[in-house]
Amino acid sequence: MEKRPADSRAGLLPALALLLAMALMNALLYLCLDWVFIAPPHASADPSRCPYGHFRMGQMANCSPWLSCEELRTDVRQLKLVGEGAVKRVFLSEWKERKVALSRLTSLEMEEDFLHGLQMLKSLQSPHVVTLLGFCEDDHTILTEYHPLGSLGNLEETLSLARFQHANTWQHRLRLALGYVGIIDYLHHSPLGTLVMCDSSDLPKTLSQYLLTTNLSIVANDLDALPLVNRSSGMLVKCGHRELHGDFVAPEQLWPFGEDRPFQDDLMPAYDEKVDIWKIPDVSSFLLGHVEGSDMVRFHLFDIHKACKSQSPADRPTARDVLDAYQKVLNSLRDTVMSQTREML
Ligand SMILES: Nc1ncnc2c1ncn2[C@@H]1O[C@H](COP(=O)(O)OP(=O)(O)O)[C@@H](O)[C@H]1O
Ligand SMILES: *[C@@H]1O[C@H](CO)[C@@H](O)[C@H](O)[C@H]1NC(C)=O
Ligand SMILES: *[C@@H]1O[C@H](CO)[C@@H](O)[C@H](O)[C@H]1NC(C)=O
Ligand SMILES: [Mg+2]
Repeated sequence: MEKRPADSRAGLLPALALLLAMALMNALLYLCLDWVFIAPPHASADPSRCPYGHFRMGQMANCSPWLSCEELRTDVRQLKLVGEGAVKRVFLSEWKERKVALSRLTSLEMEEDFLHGLQMLKSLQSPHVVTLLGFCEDDHTILTEYHPLGSLGNLEETLSLARFQHANTWQHRLRLALGYVGIIDYLHHSPLGTLVMCDSSDLPKTLSQYLLTTNLSIVANDLDALPLVNRSSGMLVKCGHRELHGDFVAPEQLWPFGEDRPFQDDLMPAYDEKVDIWKIPDVSSFLLGHVEGSDMVRFHLFDIHKACKSQSPADRPTARDVLDAYQKVLNSLRDTVMSQTREML
């Protein structure tokens, strides 16, 4: 590098120092606010993501390339089964003294979903999605970051543990809901286009596709059923080939021709990503749970949730609209709490 005369830097140093001081003060302010209230969403996002085909997790200093078949076979030790779905069997495993999750295809019939999920994992690596560490298509294995708290379905159990009691508040729970809607928004505006989270025909199933991280944020994990909607070419989707039932799925996902006519996949009309919006109020309500303040938050979310449940998909808000509404509620309740705190002082 070319060296510059020292005097041209002389004026720069105080300015840099000032900037640094300001940045530090800002950071401190954020930390204080965070301590009293809650962190803004995405605060935990990794500032320097790894390039495509690489990963970093935990305390790793550098990005490593995804592990190959060879490395998966020789360096990964399978320890115990921690989860199972229709497509994958997931094992807590060990790689270089780190805990990792090894997913194996359950049956060859599911190969297509497995490979689709792997392709999505590769393409959608981001703070919203579980970190991919490696894969081996020949062996039908995928290695991902291990999250000891497991699926979002375990939320109540987790938050009732003594070490998470501090987080069992409406603030943290609303932040989880923001995280969840943030993932849906990410999928609807993904680098691949508008993706629909199809593996979500009931609440427990939906929750099982997401993982809770130890710092209590949500990542999408199971991306085996993410069909693409293309508005401009009129391309719509169907979630599976079987008849769906119940209130959890959107009304346009139900067989429209009555009970007299038996279900026939090729007659079933396709639909768009607004099916995900229909499901948001139920998932968010689960996330809010039943702690002090949950019902107050539910009350403030009433209007946006009512819009999510519009019969007509076009009348439902976008995930971004929902995210904005949640953020407004969070900010206004935070301001209220702050001014109440001031009055108490
Ligand atoms: N990285 C992980 N860390 C911890 N638990 C996991 C991880 N990946 C999956 N699991 C557990 O395994 C279950 C099944 O995984 P999933 O990928 O949804 O399989 P399937 O595609 O068969 O539904 C999840 O619901 C979760 O409980
Ligand atoms: C969140 O957890 C991940 C590990 O899962 C860790 O790397 C990251 O630093 C944590 N972020 C914060 C803000 O604590
Ligand atoms: C959507 O369809 C249009 C027109 O067919 C095409 O040009 C575009 O690439 C498609 N977008 C995606 C994300 O597939
Ligand atoms: Mg699953």
